[in-house]
Amino acid sequence: RCARTSPATLLDMAVVLGIESSCDDTAVALVADGRVLLAETMASQADDFAAWGGVVPEIAARGHLLALPGLIDSTLAQAGLTLAAVDAVAVGAWPGLIGSLLAGVTAAKVLAARRGVPLIAVDHIQAHLAAIHLGRGDVPYPLVGLVASGGHSHYYRCLAPGRIELLGGTIDDAAGEAFDKAAATLGLGYPGGPRIDALAERGNARRFAFPRSFLADDTIRVSFAGLKTALLYQARGPLGRDPLALDEAGIADACASFQAAVIDALVGKLLLCVRREGVRTVAVGGGVACNRGLRVRLAHEASVHGLEVLLPEPRHCTDNAAMIAALGYHRWQRGEVAALDLAPLPTGTAGPRAPENRR
Ligand code: KG4
Ligand code: ZN
Repeated sequence: RCARTSPATLLDMAVVLGIESSCDDTAVALVADGRVLLAETMASQADDFAAWGGVVPEIAARGHLLALPGLIDSTLAQAGLTLAAVDAVAVGAWPGLIGSLLAGVTAAKVLAARRGVPLIAVDHIQAHLAAIHLGRGDVPYPLVGLVASGGHSHYYRCLAPGRIELLGGTIDDAAGEAFDKAAATLGLGYPGGPRIDALAERGNARRFAFPRSFLADDTIRVSFAGLKTALLYQARGPLGRDPLALDEAGIADACASFQAAVIDALVGKLLLCVRREGVRTVAVGGGVACNRGLRVRLAHEASVHGLEVLLPEPRHCTDNAAMIAALGYHRWQRGEVAALDLAPLPTGTAGPRAPENRR
């Protein structure tokens, strides 16, 4: 879908070209004023990695190199624009796979230098939360944000786009990573989240009593390692090495029970953050925010507790470039422009492994 904005309207708006290449998806987007999506394209390498059971960093980096020039051209063509209409270039610069990040950062530098426009470095985790600005004029800050993706399951105090402070999160696996490993245990292939989501719809979530670590305490912590092991033993025997012991209905029940445990943990701690922070608004981003069970549960909690739950469209929950352009716009407006010697960082500045969060 491409929001058709007339060239006359665009004259008053700032157009940011965003590039995302932190993992295996290559994406390019054009966003006006940090919220109006003009065009976006994406090349997925998921099929290439299905046989490997996960992302191979060197292959991913090469995939970005091959995909980027064509995606930049086709995004501009989709919007009916040329490079002359681009006012700034934003790129996801951390965290991520270093080879993958380098491909996107290099492409962004070339475009910014050639056009003589600002280059904006964007934090991928912050961008997952800034995705709520797409298609929306008013976002009521401060709010509590949850990023639940393949690499993160963390809660943040959000003061403005790109102004976030870590409140807590997973002590081991990320929720998306747990979904992917659970799917592998159940023989469902990669990526696992969407497959478990689909099967959970017809499964019985009460069939297996899986753990919800830390749910009853008052810490902002989640853990999915024990849940993953509980599923493994249920599906493949006490040592986890037997052939799959579940039939088709049993696999659907395992998916539903596993998903319910993840949702209980994520939402339980989200509500704790809301109480502590005294906010009425929450934002949830990252690939796991596509999960239909999670979205239904969030809508329920919103009505029970009188909260506003901001969820990006599913395609802007998984990795995408529109969220990079959206946050890039806000950083640029605040004068946060990068130099052309910008170096990508495999660790982030906002996540649990950021230097300021290391204890
Ligand atoms: O945000 P994302 O695209 O990439 C990272 O930044 O990690 O998240 C990818 C993760 C994968 O682990 C994938 O299995 C999970 O999001 N995911 C889902 C769903 N769609 C994607 N998990 C649960 N339910 C879904 N529908
Ligand atoms: Zn992501």
